[in-house]
Amino acid sequence: MSIPQEIPPHGGHLINRIATDAERQEFLAQGDRLLRIQLDDRALSDLEMIAIGGFSPLMGFMESKDYETVVTDMRLANGLPWSIPVTLSVSEETANSLKEGTWIRLDDKQGRFVGILELTQKYRYSKAHEAINVYKTDTTKHPGVKVIYDQGEVNLAGPVWLLQREDHPLFPKYQIDPAASRAQFKERGWKTIVGFQTRNPIHRAHEYIQKCALETVDGLFLHPLVGATKSDDIPADVRMRCYEIMMEHYFPQNRVILAINPSAMRYAGPREAIFHAIVRKNYGCTHFIVGRDHAGVGDYYGTYDAQHIFDEFEPGEMGIQPMKFEHAFYCTRTQQMATTKTSPSKPEERVHLSGTKVREMLRRGELPPPQFSRPEVAAELSRAMQAKS
Ligand code: ADX
Repeated sequence: MSIPQEIPPHGGHLINRIATDAERQEFLAQGDRLLRIQLDDRALSDLEMIAIGGFSPLMGFMESKDYETVVTDMRLANGLPWSIPVTLSVSEETANSLKEGTWIRLDDKQGRFVGILELTQKYRYSKAHEAINVYKTDTTKHPGVKVIYDQGEVNLAGPVWLLQREDHPLFPKYQIDPAASRAQFKERGWKTIVGFQTRNPIHRAHEYIQKCALETVDGLFLHPLVGATKSDDIPADVRMRCYEIMMEHYFPQNRVILAINPSAMRYAGPREAIFHAIVRKNYGCTHFIVGRDHAGVGDYYGTYDAQHIFDEFEPGEMGIQPMKFEHAFYCTRTQQMATTKTSPSKPEERVHLSGTKVREMLRRGELPPPQFSRPEVAAELSRAMQAKS
C-alpha cells in the first residue's frame, strides 16, 4: 500500500467549527436571549474537539441514527468506523424546556458563554444498552459507565460552534490543533508519523515502545490526554512536566513533537483504542501505538483486546495503521527493556511496575527505580506528590 503525501482526515475533510468573526458577533448579540445549558468538563472538551477537527467528520453532538449505529455496530450511520458516542445529555426537565430548531447557548462551569448548539434533535436512550455495548459492563464501578449513569436521560443533538479558540490555560505552547500538527509534519518533511496516547506519567515501557515505533517511521507525535480523567490518575500538569523532562534529556527534538490532546478519558479499553486512533488520524498521524491494556481500567478488558478489535474492520478502512506492542518490562538478564518477543528471561527476571504500584511507592516517599522511570522523572513525580501532601 503506498502512503499518501498527507493522510486524509477521517471522512475526508478536516472539520472546523470555530465561529468566524461575523458568526461570533451574531452569537454574542443573541447570547443573553438564548436558553442556556452548562457543560461539564467532558462535554466542554468534546465541544472543543469537534470544533478543532479532532473528531472529524463530526460537526456536533450525535443524532440518534449515528448514536444507535455507533453503539451497536461501531459505525456512523454512513458506515464510517466510529466507536464511542459523542453526546450531550440533560435531564428530562431541561430537555422539555428546549425547542428543536433553536439555538442553545452553551456555557462552561463558570457560566462563560463558550459555544452554540443548533438543536436539531432530542432523544431518549438506554444507558444499559450503551454501557454494555461500549464498555462491556454496566457496573457503575467502571468510571466510564458511572458517567453514563450520572448524566441526564435525554441526548441533545445538532451542529455546534465554539465561540472562540482560546489558549489552553496551562499548556498554550503545546496546544497544537489538527490543522497545525498537519502543517508541522509537512514542514518537517515527515511522511509517516506515529501517534502516542497516554494518560499516565511516562515510564520506561512507554519510552521503549515509543522508540521502537519511531525506528520505523519519520516522526513521533507524543499526545498526552489532558482532558478529564478519574480522580486518582496523576494530574495533567505533573504528567506534562515529566514529558518536558523527557523531551529535554531523552528524545531527539527533531524527530518528536509533544502536543496536548484536550479530550476526556472514557476508559472504554478496546472501543476507546479505535477512537484514539481515529482522533490521531485527524491530527495527521499515519500510525498509532496500541500496547498492553490500552485505555483499560480494572479487569474489564483482556490484555490485548484493544489490539484485536482493529481486526473487526476491513484492511485500510480505518485509514491509520495500528502498531501493536506486547507488554514491555525491564529484563534483568539482558539489562534492557524488552518483551517476551525479544527477551529470553524467566518471569522472575522481569521488572514490571504498574502505575498503581508507583503511586504507592511515591506515597511512602520512595522513588521508582531506574528500571521503571528515568531518575529525573521519578524526582519530578516525588516532588509533585510531596507538594500535594
Ligand atoms: S492509556 O489509558 O492512555 O492507554 P497509559 O498512559 O498507561 O494508559 O498507556 C499509554 C499507551 O502505552 C497505551 O497504548 C498502552 O497500551 C501502552 N502501555 C502502557 N504500559 C505498557 C507496557 N508496560 N507495555 C506495553 N505497552 C504499554
